[in-house]
Formats: sequence, C-alpha cells, structure tokens
Amino acid sequence: MAVSEDIDAAATAAHGLISGAATLDALKAAEPEILGKKSALGQFKRALGGLEPDERRVVGQHLNAVRETVSEALDDRRAELAAGERRAQFEEERMDLTEVPTDPGLGHLHLVTQTVQRLEDVFVGMGFTVSEGPEVETDWYNFEALNLPKWHPARSMWDTLYLNLDQGDNVLLRTHTSPVQVRVMQEQAPPIYTICPGKVFRRDTADASHLPAFHQIEGLVVDEGITFGDLAGTLDEFTSAYFGGAIKSRLRPSFFPFTEPSAEFDINCVICEGSGCQTCQRTGWIELGGCGMVHPNVLSNVGIDPERYTGFAFGFGIDRLALMRHGIDDLRDMFTNDVRFLTQF
Ligand code: PHE
Repeated sequence: MAVSEDIDAAATAAHGLISGAATLDALKAAEPEILGKKSALGQFKRALGGLEPDERRVVGQHLNAVRETVSEALDDRRAELAAGERRAQFEEERMDLTEVPTDPGLGHLHLVTQTVQRLEDVFVGMGFTVSEGPEVETDWYNFEALNLPKWHPARSMWDTLYLNLDQGDNVLLRTHTSPVQVRVMQEQAPPIYTICPGKVFRRDTADASHLPAFHQIEGLVVDEGITFGDLAGTLDEFTSAYFGGAIKSRLRPSFFPFTEPSAEFDINCVICEGSGCQTCQRTGWIELGGCGMVHPNVLSNVGIDPERYTGFAFGFGIDRLALMRHGIDDLRDMFTNDVRFLTQF
C-alpha cells in the first residue's frame, strides 16, 4: 500500500533527524520537522480525510503507531542529550581536590603554650595539680585577701587595669595569678599542692622586656610542717628539671605583702650557665620571680588555721622564661604573630 510505504519512509527520515541532532538545541530546532503539523508525518494526518473509510482506518492506525514510536524516540533522545550535557557541565565545574598541597603547612602550638605545657609536666611530675581561675577579678581576690588592704602602699607594685562597670575600683583584670590560689584555698582543705598558670594584665607599655598582657605561673603548697627549706628544695628541683642539671637556683631576701618571709628567686644565667655574660649583666644570675612563706593573714582570710598549717608560694613570668630558654631578645616578638618567628619553635 503506497501510503503506508510513504509513512514508513517519512518515519525513517524522522528517526534520522532525531539521531542526527547532536545537542538539545539542535533537537529542539528539528522538532517541527519531525512531528510538527508541517512535517511529513503531520501532513499525512490531513491526507487521511481524502481516503476511503476502510483504508482510512488501516492507514490511520499505522500512522498513529508510527507517530508513537517517533515520539518515544524523540523523548529518549532528549533525555540522553540532557544527561550528556549535565555530565559535561559537572566535568567542567569539577574541583580538582588533588591540587591541594600534600603539606599545607599545618600550624603548631605557640611557644608560650608549649612552655606552659612543659612547666605543667614538670610540676605534675612532682605531685602538683593544675588550677585555673577567672581573668577578671574583684578587688578582694586580687588584693584584699592577699593581705593588701586598700590603703596598702605596696598596691602600687601592680599597675592595675580597672573595668568601668559603675562599681568603683572593684572589678579589675587580674594583675597576677595569686587570686587563683585564694580560690583554691577557699574550696579545698589542706594539704594543697597546686600550680596556677594563666594570663595576667598590667598597665605597662610594651617594650623589649614588658608586655601589658603576659603569662604567669604560680605555685602554692599548704600542709602541716611546711618550711622554707621545702620552698628552696622545690624551686631547685624545678630548676634542674626544667633547665637541666647545670642550672642552679638561689633565693634573695625581698618583700611581698602575702608572704613572710619573702624572697626573690634567681637562676644561673641560661646563656652563660653562670660564668657571666651580657644577658645577666656579668652577674651569672637571672631573676625569675618571687616567692615566700604564705602570710598567716592570708591563711586566716580563707579560713585556714595558721597555727596548724604553713605553706609557701612562688610565681614567675612564663613569657620571660621562654625568652631566656630560647635566647630571644625582645618579648614583643612573641605576640606580633610573624610566622617567620613563630615557625622557629
Ligand atoms: N604574685 C607575685 C607577682 O605577681 C609573685 C609572687 C607569687 C610572689 C607568690 C610571692 C609569692 O609579682
């Protein structure tokens, strides 16, 4: 039947157009020619009207079946092209994660943090616990409880930064870590063997050996029968554990309101090991911190019986300790965060 053959030929042409379209756009542009009203297959619809009813039915069914197949092929091709284009887009936008360097230059702990950890290790090895407290304190914890009443002239030893909270000069940035010791004594009955590392703040202008925010570590021991000899022995033990056997410590009389007697704690210069150099001004000694026997008033202030218990305390600057150990000549270098400096430690 001639018409059916024509239909088959038109269908073949339509399938050719479908598979020949290389992109979605090309397929869309070809659609009117494939199944549109003016396409060959579209024209047959109109031609049906001129056929005998019997023939019209047979040819009509054939035409519908053919159009159905062409329409399915069109859908399949459209889906195939869309998937291909999506794949191409993914490929183009794909991030090549293998380009991330295998050594991204990971950071490490800051020198001060490393120093704190090393100090903690030494003291924990000697049986001390580690205590922490708030950096914002009240006058009572920072001064009063430590035997420093408001009128005490020694308060000028600490250039205090007060917080403007409409509470007068009552709330401040702690000037030392000693208030942590007060808190420990309030919370815990003797025996107490603890160290308190942390940040402290003073109204100092930064220079090579001062910073307005720096780090301290203080130690506190309260027990029965504690003597000045225990203090000296502990500091000597610490010095050789931290700096090595060649470095010794010594005590010089001094004054702190919260300790009696009080002493300054020196160690052999770590640069020249005691023979005398520029760093130690040819004395062979470097001052590390203060110490002494806990003043009985301080024990009474926190409800510990000074007749039964005695104790000692010591405190020194961590940043300066790190400075000495590594031969750094300006404290400010520690906190300007220049990686060329930081990566050396
Ligand atoms: N708290 C003192 C300071 O900041 C140091 C110190 C601690 C002195 C313990 C004696 C005993 O200077």
